[in-house]
Amino acid sequence: MSDLQNLFVTCAPGVEPFLDAEMEGMRLRKRERQVGGVSFEGGWAEIWRANLGLRTAIRVLSRVSRFIARDSDELYRHVMSVDWSQYLGPEATIAVRAHSRDSALDHTLFVEQRVKDAICDQERAKTGERPSVDKSSPTLRIHAHIFRDRVTLSIDTSGDSLHRRGYREIQGRAPLSESLAAALIMSTGWDQRQPFLDPFCGSGTFLVEAAWMAMDRAPGLGRSFAFEKWPGHDERGLEIFRQKLNDRVKPLGKRVIWGGDVDRQTVEAARHNIERAGLSESVQVEACDARSFSPRHGWNAQVIANPPYGERVGEERKLGEVYEGFGAALMEHAEGFKVSLLSGNPSLTRRLQLPNPTKWMDIMNGNLACRLLSWEL
Ligand SMILES: C[S@@+](CC[C@H](N)C(=O)[O-])C[C@H]1O[C@@H](n2cnc3c(N)ncnc32)[C@H](O)[C@@H]1O
Repeated sequence: MSDLQNLFVTCAPGVEPFLDAEMEGMRLRKRERQVGGVSFEGGWAEIWRANLGLRTAIRVLSRVSRFIARDSDELYRHVMSVDWSQYLGPEATIAVRAHSRDSALDHTLFVEQRVKDAICDQERAKTGERPSVDKSSPTLRIHAHIFRDRVTLSIDTSGDSLHRRGYREIQGRAPLSESLAAALIMSTGWDQRQPFLDPFCGSGTFLVEAAWMAMDRAPGLGRSFAFEKWPGHDERGLEIFRQKLNDRVKPLGKRVIWGGDVDRQTVEAARHNIERAGLSESVQVEACDARSFSPRHGWNAQVIANPPYGERVGEERKLGEVYEGFGAALMEHAEGFKVSLLSGNPSLTRRLQLPNPTKWMDIMNGNLACRLLSWEL
């Protein structure tokens, strides 16, 4: 792989400004914000920094080639002109994912097949062996993005999506992606010293993300990445870099990070995840109904939560009472607090009976259009 590469970090729609701000903080160069991510330029050092350090990112892609292709022979020829051996070790497995818009090559399954054939043919000619296909966890994932016949071929340096930090072994009922949770926390402007409270904590995602931010603990420290399996990977260099990130981690000290959930089993799951994140001494979770939320007066805390939206019939009626009770608890006990709630069901949100929010932000939570509503009570 050459020294300077065109890189693209992907993120969930709506998260681009937070990703860009994180990248600016890391001094990643020549950034350009686009729909679905931010492009930048860099070499191996930047690929490591982005993969291990970005909280709101999903993947770091490296562009290997860009060309025009209007038919499958042209596509095959261009894919063949890339030297794939630099990414394929002896045990390599591959997977290709294609997207196409407004292009002659519009059959994405066919595009995936042709790209795969070209790579496998090249490898067989060089080594006598074809890499095998592994769609779930290949050592090399290739993205072919076609727009108006212009093909961009990229390789995924991350492997598993970056939201998988490794701590969330037990999922709650409707867990939030770790990367989205990090972006939502950033959007609140939490100063990392105020008490941080999530009264609907589920599997504990907001709590762990907030704690790691305050500790300056890099999100990718406990996981591996696709690039580690590529030939020529500098194992020792990466180890030293991980150690540097580890040395930066600060203790949480006296900060309060607290979560509650009405379901005892969920609280146990959150405790398990929090322990895996190395936080069992510093983050508290309890079984607690949000209707009885009564934080300490004058705490000046940041509250953030993703209350249930009630997707099944009958559930919504019961939840209406939970929202009413929680809204009343906030009005009684949270004066002076900052409160941000992820709303996926406007009629339930109205049941909170809170004043008009001071700000809001539209965001996609998976396939569900949501709004993060914020109040200064
Ligand atoms: C959408 S989930 C939260 C997911 C969480 N943000 C995560 O990432 O795992 C909503 C949570 O609210 C909890 N819940 C439902 N009713 C509650 C109540 N009255 N008080 C507190 N928690 C409640 C559910 O048990 C569930 O874990």
